[in-house]
Amino acid sequence: MSSAVETKKPAADWDAIRSQQRARLLKVSEAAFSGGGKERIDKQHKQGKLTARERIDILLDPGSFVEVDRLRIHRSLDFGMEKTHPAGDGMVTGYGQIEGRHVMVYAQDFTVFGGSMSEVAAQKICKIYTMAMKVGAPVIGLCDSGGARIQEGVASLAGYADIFCANTLASGVIPQLSVIMGPCAGGAVYSPALTDFVVMVKDTSYMFLTGPDVIKQVTHEDVTMEQLGGAMTHSTRSGVAHFAVDDDTRAIATVRELLGFMPSNNSEEPPQRPVNDDPERKDDALKTAIPSNPNKPYDVRDVIKPIVDDRHFFEVQAHFAANMVVGFARMMGQSVGIVANQPQVMAGAIDIDASDKAARFVRFCDSFNIPIITLVDVPGFLPGTQQELGGVIRHGAKLLYAYAEATVPKMTVILRKAYGGAYCVMAPKHLRTDVNFALPTAEIAVMGAAGAVAIVMREELNKAPNKDAKLKELTADYADKFQNPYKAAELGYIDEVIFPEDMRPRLCQGLTLLRNKRDELPPKKHGNIPL
Ligand code: HXC
Repeated sequence: MSSAVETKKPAADWDAIRSQQRARLLKVSEAAFSGGGKERIDKQHKQGKLTARERIDILLDPGSFVEVDRLRIHRSLDFGMEKTHPAGDGMVTGYGQIEGRHVMVYAQDFTVFGGSMSEVAAQKICKIYTMAMKVGAPVIGLCDSGGARIQEGVASLAGYADIFCANTLASGVIPQLSVIMGPCAGGAVYSPALTDFVVMVKDTSYMFLTGPDVIKQVTHEDVTMEQLGGAMTHSTRSGVAHFAVDDDTRAIATVRELLGFMPSNNSEEPPQRPVNDDPERKDDALKTAIPSNPNKPYDVRDVIKPIVDDRHFFEVQAHFAANMVVGFARMMGQSVGIVANQPQVMAGAIDIDASDKAARFVRFCDSFNIPIITLVDVPGFLPGTQQELGGVIRHGAKLLYAYAEATVPKMTVILRKAYGGAYCVMAPKHLRTDVNFALPTAEIAVMGAAGAVAIVMREELNKAPNKDAKLKELTADYADKFQNPYKAAELGYIDEVIFPEDMRPRLCQGLTLLRNKRDELPPKKHGNIPL
């Protein structure tokens, strides 16, 4: 029986306990609050960089950050490491919200051991990956690191390999975004490379496996950090980065916007935005965007923008393989991925880089339930020994594979040219595309009229008394028979020939129809995409 008179315990003095804890933390290390000390933070600021905590502050909705493992310390005993144990070990991890949706975040603190990857830092990242997979939340990594912590040797390498494994298992389950905001050397580059999107900051961020000094020793090449691994190098040439922006703040704004197009995980739909743009809107700009002369270049973004909500197109990898345009937009408030040939660059011909770029984008959209709209104007694959010997067969096959495999809603509009293998690769009906339109200006054939006539009508041409007149006549005949969308429409490969100003209404109708699309792949462990 309980006593009739209950003895009331005195309430804990939480304010006192809180200040004791803060004093204890400060005794352990200033790093628990502010990283590697004022001098190093000032150096970071002088370079135009924010600290790990400042970056997290502007990334997440105000006040939403909850830190995890703030008190973890390393266990190294060599090279002076036994003397200093900064709390958190140069890695800030936790979770918070972006536009009210949960995200997991880690930020390397360059002011503590150069943000180098230790056993503990890796365990902290893996811990938030485990949580991210359980709750279905994206992971955002803010990278600023000198690579493997030299003093820890293989324990650091093991940590990296654990992270690479976590990245791989999470691929296609939760979106993973990396922001490169400082040097990323050695192992530090492979985790970002395994993630879905890489944002780099111009002039302060670098990615390379081996730096300029090692390269000089081994191959005697002179190269600067910028040339080797700067933001523009990776955005224009290597294709490693998807965005190059001016500073930390813009990098974080890019991540916030990018995330708005994606669901939190592969079992959700992307967030639906309120929208005032009428799905039936017919934009007159579309009537003149595509020149009637098939040899005249134009910017395909002038076709994309009038079709999508509020003319807002968020381009991805704008500087890499510019002959292929990819990016996100919304229609009726719903996220869509756009893939389009760019007639303004190399006449829109598809090459190795364009194939890789589009294939990876298509696979991202398919992983995360984002419908794909493909706009086709392509004279073919780029001919040449450089392309053939570089493996354009293998790379072009990636794009075929990605489109054929994708089960999300797929819609294609042939704007003008769709020739040869490029017709087959750019999401035709045969690759399980759901809705296929062509404009009356479409030319769908094995090859252009002059080339075709020269091959199949050689004998007739040779016999003709007036070769030029005969060539003209045969070319016109071929163009009439084949260089139009009607043959493909007769065969059912094109569902409907539509006018340019009808593209938005028609695509919106298609999206509505396909909202509950169900499609699947034959049972398998996984396919073997040509890599
Ligand atoms: C431990 C490191 C470190 C590292 C930097 N620091 N890199 N500590 N391990 N890998 C420390 C420095 O000692 C210094 O400490 C502080 O971080 C800042 O470094 P600085 O050199 O003063 O900065 P800065 O001049 O800006 O140069 C940055 C840098 C340079 C370019 C990143 O530090 C550098 O080259 N670091 C080594 C890069 C590297 O080779 N890493 C290993 C890659 S191999 P104090 O106390 O003075 O502030 C690898 C293998 C993994 O990663 C492979 C897996 C696939």
